[in-house]
Amino acid sequence: MLTRRGGWELSSASFCTALLLLHVAVVLPGVVSSQSLKNSNVTATFPWLTLSGDTPLVIAKGGFSGLFPDSSSFSYKFSYVAGSPDTISWCDVRLTKDGNGICLPDIVLDNCTNIKLVSLAQAILSRSNKFDASLFPILTVEDLVAQIKPAKLWLNIQHDIFYRQLNLDMRRYLLYLSKHNIPSYVSSPEVGFLSSIVGRFRKSKTKLIFCFLGEDTIEPSTNVTYGSLLKNLTFVKTFASGILIPKYYIWPVTSSGYLESYTSVVMDAHREGLEVFASEFANDVLFSYNYSYDPLAEVLSFIDNGIFSVDGVVTDFPITASEAIGDVQKWTIDMHNLVYKRVGAGLEVTWHSDVNVSNPVELEVGKLGYSLNCSRIILFLAI
Ligand SMILES: *[C@@H]1O[C@H](CO)[C@@H](O)[C@H](O)[C@H]1NC(C)=O
Ligand SMILES: *[C@@H]1O[C@H](CO)[C@@H](O)[C@H](O)[C@H]1NC(C)=O
Ligand SMILES: *[C@@H]1O[C@H](CO)[C@@H](O)[C@H](O)[C@H]1NC(C)=O
Ligand SMILES: *[C@@H]1O[C@H](CO)[C@@H](O)[C@H](O)[C@H]1NC(C)=O
Ligand SMILES: *[C@@H]1O[C@H](CO)[C@@H](O)[C@H](O)[C@H]1NC(C)=O
Ligand SMILES: *[C@@H]1O[C@H](CO)[C@@H](O)[C@H](O)[C@H]1NC(C)=O
Ligand SMILES: *[C@@H]1O[C@H](CO)[C@@H](O)[C@H](O)[C@H]1NC(C)=O
Repeated sequence: MLTRRGGWELSSASFCTALLLLHVAVVLPGVVSSQSLKNSNVTATFPWLTLSGDTPLVIAKGGFSGLFPDSSSFSYKFSYVAGSPDTISWCDVRLTKDGNGICLPDIVLDNCTNIKLVSLAQAILSRSNKFDASLFPILTVEDLVAQIKPAKLWLNIQHDIFYRQLNLDMRRYLLYLSKHNIPSYVSSPEVGFLSSIVGRFRKSKTKLIFCFLGEDTIEPSTNVTYGSLLKNLTFVKTFASGILIPKYYIWPVTSSGYLESYTSVVMDAHREGLEVFASEFANDVLFSYNYSYDPLAEVLSFIDNGIFSVDGVVTDFPITASEAIGDVQKWTIDMHNLVYKRVGAGLEVTWHSDVNVSNPVELEVGKLGYSLNCSRIILFLAI
């Protein structure tokens, strides 16, 4: 049951910006279609140990933010082009002065935008900034829904108390969105905020998720640490239907980078009827040595270890989590100037963009991978 992988069908999706044109459209000879994967009833043969027994969810943090500026249209689009169609788009909601919700990864504008041009920029220095030149505009939540049509939307609301001090009403904004059936998930690290909306959302399909920060960090509305709230899941259940925890809450890592044995948090939360989502998955940062640098192995240890499975993972590289779940897709690419060739056990798809990559990067994406080289983007797909 390790990789649950079948093959890929490349079908259609058009995908372009002014500066970078990615138009793919191929049918691969000899590749098993995704239909056969879907038909193999893997979940029926191997029930998942998630709370519902359903397939774990893949939540793309700001889209495919491991590659493109977090929360840019390209980033969100690419998470669907190169990942599962069921991927959930994550948006960190900030309010503008006039009370509009926008998706921005950082409350400090300098850190994630080019302020002069008001466009999104790569905030993580170790990642390529080559796409910044595309001048991605900041998206409102409604832009995101209209332009990307995400399968589901996850709104993360980090600083309600801060906005309240500025007389901005996040609660009202959220209720406005929910009238339009917009969010599927709403997460927040503030007990007070979730408690204030839980009544209004009880009858809706939107799930409220309580987000744990560092174990020693004080939760501002209860004045106790997140570590102690973790011991009081009965209380958490009164205002949330799930929890979002950093991955080390589940598999702690020693200071020297070795994995310790798992904690009971997933089982404890499931017993309480709470779903568990794990965050902080990224392929380009150091993770425990026990995974031998394989980010796919890391995801599998959270969803497919025979003992428990988290109900979803929040990741900057959604393709890896989709691959782990065996839900790599149906992607339909419509691409000019496409070159593909078999490389060993994989497929290399190359396409040209109008932008020269000044700083080529090569990134491991589990068994799938991509690299950027000069003006080419190369996607490696395992077959
Ligand atoms: C998959 O499982 C469902 C429900 O258990 C069943 O109805 C369906 O026929 C199965 N599909 C295949 C291809 O076996
Ligand atoms: C944002 O930028 C400031 C100043 O450049 C820096 O001190 C701070 O750590 C950054 N915050 C994050 C979350 O990167
Ligand atoms: C929070 O707890 C600390 C010490 O436990 C106390 O000094 C402080 O007054 C408390 N704050 C509130 C708002 O209750
Ligand atoms: C759980 O939290 C609630 C609300 O803060 C509190 O009243 C209750 O005593 C706590 N229970 C335990 C076991 O800590
Ligand atoms: C991780 O690797 C170290 C060193 O090989 C080993 O001692 C430890 O038991 C491993 N952790 C797990 C959870 O397997
Ligand atoms: C990209 O770089 C190559 C080699 O340096 C150069 O020949 C080409 O004209 C450049 N293309 C663009 C669009 O700048
Ligand atoms: C990227 O370019 C470098 C040198 O320009 C080359 O050595 C390397 O093989 C290229 N990588 C790929 C994947 O084409």
